[in-house]
Amino acid sequence: MQTDFLIIGSGIAGLTYALKVARDCPDKKVLIFTKTTSDETNTKYAQGGIAGVWDNENDSFEKHIEDTLIAGDGLCNEKTVEIVVREGVERIREIIEWGAKFDKEPDGDYALGKEGGHSEFRILHHKDVTGREMERALLEAIKTQSNIEVITHCFVVDIITQHHLGYLVTKATPDIECFGVYALNLRTKKIEKVRSGITLLATGGNGQVYRTTTNPVIATGDGVAMAYRAKGRIENMEFIQFHPTALYEPGVKGQAFLITEAVRGDGGILRNSDGEAFMERYDARKDLAPRDIVARAIDNEMKRTGTEHVWLDCRDMDQEKFLHHFPNIHEKCLSIGIDVAKSMIPVAPAAHYSCGGIKTDEWARTSIRHLYAAGECASTGLHGANRLASNSLLEAMVFAHRAYVDAVKKMKDNSGEEWGNWRRDAIPDWRTEGTTAPKEMILITQSLKELQLLMSDYVGIVRTNTRLERAMRRLDMMHEETEELYKTTEVSPQLCQLRNMITVGYLIVKSAQFRHESRGLHFNTDYPHKSEQVQNIVL
Ligand code: FAD
Ligand code: SIN
Repeated sequence: MQTDFLIIGSGIAGLTYALKVARDCPDKKVLIFTKTTSDETNTKYAQGGIAGVWDNENDSFEKHIEDTLIAGDGLCNEKTVEIVVREGVERIREIIEWGAKFDKEPDGDYALGKEGGHSEFRILHHKDVTGREMERALLEAIKTQSNIEVITHCFVVDIITQHHLGYLVTKATPDIECFGVYALNLRTKKIEKVRSGITLLATGGNGQVYRTTTNPVIATGDGVAMAYRAKGRIENMEFIQFHPTALYEPGVKGQAFLITEAVRGDGGILRNSDGEAFMERYDARKDLAPRDIVARAIDNEMKRTGTEHVWLDCRDMDQEKFLHHFPNIHEKCLSIGIDVAKSMIPVAPAAHYSCGGIKTDEWARTSIRHLYAAGECASTGLHGANRLASNSLLEAMVFAHRAYVDAVKKMKDNSGEEWGNWRRDAIPDWRTEGTTAPKEMILITQSLKELQLLMSDYVGIVRTNTRLERAMRRLDMMHEETEELYKTTEVSPQLCQLRNMITVGYLIVKSAQFRHESRGLHFNTDYPHKSEQVQNIVL
């Protein structure tokens, strides 16, 4: 199989880029791979909305930039922040033109929400299902482009580089180049070799590495693991954002239901098991302090009082407004017997967002030639040590656009030449010799449980050197066992995902061990203070 533009992932980053390159290059083939259905993405579950400077009377680019920098705790790349905030509004206008609908006030102005860390109302939203609406609009829009093909249920296993042509590739190799990918077609059960001119990784987050997460099952960090195996640069993986308020449902496994921060923006109050509105004790911004502060405060209250959750009190909120803004949450709560007008909602922190990822430059280029990355799998420098709420959909669109600009320029500069011509015959087919069908799925499922448990217990909101060391020792053993399994067993998505998640776990722990300070989302009681020295951890 061969294509001009290859995109791994059908969330906001992948679809935005695909639409743009396809429209600009109607004679080129644009191929999207997605590992389950096309809409099963982190994007679909985004609730709160997308941040942007919309109210020019009260808000300004400077204020949004400042809020982002404050949340990032000294580690944001200021140029990236400027780019995202200033270009973001144009990208939001585009998605509105493509059909996404955001809620409006009766006077026709957009209804703007507020979330933790934002000094102004600037969050555009579609009820409490903003991501679903944006994903819908994008999927509709790409249907109008005949040069885009979406192949669902296609699991990308690895990026093809010189390594697959038999060359020794290390981090120090100059000009590592991406020629395409090996992809497991889950319908035919065959691994195909896919050559591409330009490849974009838009594989999303890695919340599934933890036991409790707001992320759907697709969020296994595949893109980051693949880029790392291909010797690409990976940055700041220790900064895992825990959302303070996932619905606490004992006994329920898998993705935790999110109670959007916008509920606190509209007046919801956190209370501990004694009924105390405890956030007053932790931060002057109370319930709307940045997420790292709120999540740590909740963690502390839970440990202090020996409980597994705190409460979100919405009883004094305007119930008509609540139902109008948060119909999905209202319905979910009712389905488990909670009437938010009368009872408080049990909530606890859950792994939510990966601030680090594949290191990219201002045009979304990775350290590997012809390989771009955008969306949650990328580390652009926007979030620094902690992401400001509702900045990630914005970042994904801005950098999908920038990747498009650079990739199309590169494609046009190369017109006339067929990409990857000289290596067409040199790339080997996927080898299956020496592998057998998986006999014991329990080896995979049990290892996954172990991984999620150890990451939650030792590499969660509060870390210590001893916990990180213990996590690393366990990960080493799991890595060894899983690599052995990988060498001898036919490839399956479950095995590949486990392998990828162990790699991501390793990257998180290793980066955490390198950071001898507490900053933003990374809190280590052995180094409780922020260092004077500001550094990114690049592996
Ligand atoms: P995704 O939307 O996650 O898409 C990833 C794609 O990659 C999927 O299509 C998947 O199938 C594909 N893929 C992955 N690995 C492979 C592979 N090996 N082979 C083939 N395909 C693969 N952000 C905000 O800004 N505002 C919000 O209100 C907000 N709310 C959120 C609420 C929840 C519950 C969650 C989980 C996140 C929220 N976020 C929010 C974060 C935001 O939704 C994500 O960061 C963003 O949608 C990521 O988009 P993406 O395009 O990078 O990846
Ligand atoms: C939320 O709605 O609380 C999530 C927003 C985000 O993660 O940006």
